[in-house]
Amino acid sequence: MYQVYPRSFADSDGDGIGDLPGIIDKLDHLVELGVGTIWLSPFFASPQRDVGYDVSDYRTVAPEYGTNHDAQRLIDEAHQRGLKVMFDLVLNHTSDQHPWFLESRSSRTNSKADWYVWADGRRGRGGKPKPPNNWRSELQLPRAWQWSEEREQWYLATFLSFQPDLNWRQPDLKAEMFDMVRMWLGHGVDGFRLDIFGSIMQDPALRDNGRRPTIVAGIPRVQTPDRTLNTEENYALAADLRAVCDEFDGDRVLVGEVFGSAEVLRRYVHDRGRNGLHLVFLFEFLASRYGAKQYRTLVEQFERDFPAPLVPTYVVENHDRARSLSRLGGNLDKARVLAALLFTLRGVPFMYQGQEIGMENRYIPLAEANDPIPGVVAKRLPEALNRRLAERLNRDEVRTPMQWEPGPGAGFCPPDVTPWLPIHHNAAVRNVQTQEADDSSLLHWYRSLLHLRSERPALHQGSLELLPVRDGQGDLLRYLRHAGDDLCEVVANLGSVRAELALEGPGASSAALLLASSDRAVLRGGQLSLPPNSVAVIDRSGSGDAEAPG
Ligand code: GLC
Ligand code: MG
Repeated sequence: MYQVYPRSFADSDGDGIGDLPGIIDKLDHLVELGVGTIWLSPFFASPQRDVGYDVSDYRTVAPEYGTNHDAQRLIDEAHQRGLKVMFDLVLNHTSDQHPWFLESRSSRTNSKADWYVWADGRRGRGGKPKPPNNWRSELQLPRAWQWSEEREQWYLATFLSFQPDLNWRQPDLKAEMFDMVRMWLGHGVDGFRLDIFGSIMQDPALRDNGRRPTIVAGIPRVQTPDRTLNTEENYALAADLRAVCDEFDGDRVLVGEVFGSAEVLRRYVHDRGRNGLHLVFLFEFLASRYGAKQYRTLVEQFERDFPAPLVPTYVVENHDRARSLSRLGGNLDKARVLAALLFTLRGVPFMYQGQEIGMENRYIPLAEANDPIPGVVAKRLPEALNRRLAERLNRDEVRTPMQWEPGPGAGFCPPDVTPWLPIHHNAAVRNVQTQEADDSSLLHWYRSLLHLRSERPALHQGSLELLPVRDGQGDLLRYLRHAGDDLCEVVANLGSVRAELALEGPGASSAALLLASSDRAVLRGGQLSLPPNSVAVIDRSGSGDAEAPG
């Protein structure tokens, strides 16, 4: 699955903003890369204060991205090329400029009065309004409630203050949202990525969250979100939404952005006899340090938590988190190893635009941020400190324009146009055109991996068995993938010294390299020699050539 961030993918009309016709023009790049599905971040009508995650009309394409006709053309053109298309649904909240919210907040009696989560709250000293409970926003520091003068009431905003939470207990709202989902399914959309899905339904009695700080899915929180996150009603909503998808023919897929324990995540997939989401994002891999031990522990965990027929997901980048190559200190050998794991482990791999050419974070000071988050959580953070943080606060840094060509505009927009975010300084070398011409580029490595993955049943549908690593063999990660008579072994050397090892089991001596990230990797007579930070994918199902191809 390949994530397209529409605003930064390709600008067809020269306004410095990516658009749907731009995406259509680049579909062939994605086909050649070998991806199966594209997921598009939201491109619906929006004031764009959170780059489209603040929707003001779910049924209409924002004018800077094109028209509904373009959306249809995108779906059709993708389908003609054998690609599936997933949209991004922001069901938790709308923009505060959505006509529903404008009406809802205008009085306590209008027809949309209860389409959002409103509460009276309490009164403090001198009648000062106090929020109804202690709930914090998902950004942790700010509270989850915003005061409305018009209604003299609080509205819930789980994320940013201008993103009021919809009230999914309101039957008309729920019917309208499901209808909108049906509309896009009717247009041929193959599924949806579901934005902060675990935050949609909170405790109806508005009881306080636990005061104790905690960690959920590796992310620290200032309170225990037992009344606000992953409530029973969220699992039921997943199943209801699944039922809507199942009204349509073909495979329609739901992928949830949810955070929680394995048990919680599995309930989104299946709960009380009902099927829900098909997949949930697992973000630990993304946050993990690079290392054989760390990755092995995670693979064991994912295999234990999502045994077949469940399928884990592997994610190393998205539009919210630091670029993987930047996490790896810019080391391209490590990036190749990570890519090989991503595409050969058992699970659905997700990648983010530009990952295939090694795009990196482009430093942008907090004061220049377009992203609203720094203004909320890092108002007083000294820039000198921000500069050095591994996790980037200003998400603009991972959202800079896709680098297609060398030269001004990087092929994203015309050379004389200023793009909405600055282009990375490395665009002259890190771009699709330059890497296309270079067989040894990261882009070619991604293509080789993806094509191999789709050719080999073992890699796209096989079981996974982690192999033991013996003392003295080095910092290795080894596993077998197996489907029918197709058997592949993956050996990754994540250490800083060359690894020498003997393959084991039947047919070891006739095993052949299918792919190796380094041309200094050698497999001969069952003896494998792997340079530091390199990886080999090996055919273990029969006999073959003992030399690395190319
Ligand atoms: C999700 C999106 C993020 C957005 C937020 C609010 O986490 O990935 O980009 O800001 O939800 O919709
Ligand atoms: Mg444009």
